Amino acid sequence: MISFKPVEPAEIDVLVALEQQATEYPWSRALFESCLQPDYSNYVLRQGQQVLGYYFAQQVLDEVTLFTITVAADQQGKGYGRSLLQHMIQQAKSAGCRQVWLEVRASNQPAINLYHSAGFQPAGVRKGYYQNAAGSEDAVVMQLLLTKSTTE
Ligand SMILES: CC(C)(COP(=O)(O)OP(=O)(O)OC[C@H]1O[C@@H](n2cnc3c(N)ncnc32)[C@H](O)[C@@H]1OP(=O)(O)O)[C@@H](O)C(=O)NCCC(=O)NCCS
Repeated sequence: MISFKPVEPAEIDVLVALEQQATEYPWSRALFESCLQPDYSNYVLRQGQQVLGYYFAQQVLDEVTLFTITVAADQQGKGYGRSLLQHMIQQAKSAGCRQVWLEVRASNQPAINLYHSAGFQPAGVRKGYYQNAAGSEDAVVMQLLLTKSTTE
């Protein structure tokens, strides 16, 4: 049985460790902690005591920005990323939001595919926004307009 729960400050250690395994460019503990604010919507997806993944998003007026979404390395490719994204979108709609924004590395094709499949559209490019081993890479800015017919 899987369940979504708001992120608790006490579980940041678990998320930091999971992040280190799951992504080439992990968030720091300080970055996670900076997102523990009332205007954020941060959820963890669990199966029993096991953390499968999580997302961190911030609402400002009627817009939500998705800052990170991560699935544990050994749980990727099982649909949990889509479940997390759909949960985030439903939370945004329930809060009366009109649009969701995010930025993703241009090289992160799995994430770009996931966002496309949920209806996100490219809205711009920030040249050289992210650091990488080669120096820098672009950020793709993506937007999802939330309407009553947005089901994902
Ligand atoms: C991006 C991420 C969250 C996807 O989560 P996931 O649970 O593996 O993805 P799902 O199994 O739910 O797959 C959903 C869709 O994502 C896309 N996708 C997922 N893995 C993919 C891969 N390896 N290659 C291409 N597309 C992929 C596909 O469109 C897939 O739909 P499909 O199965 O119908 O083809 C996961 O790969 C991850 O945690 N990556 C590291 C952190 C990261 O990069 N986060 C995004 C930061 S912007």
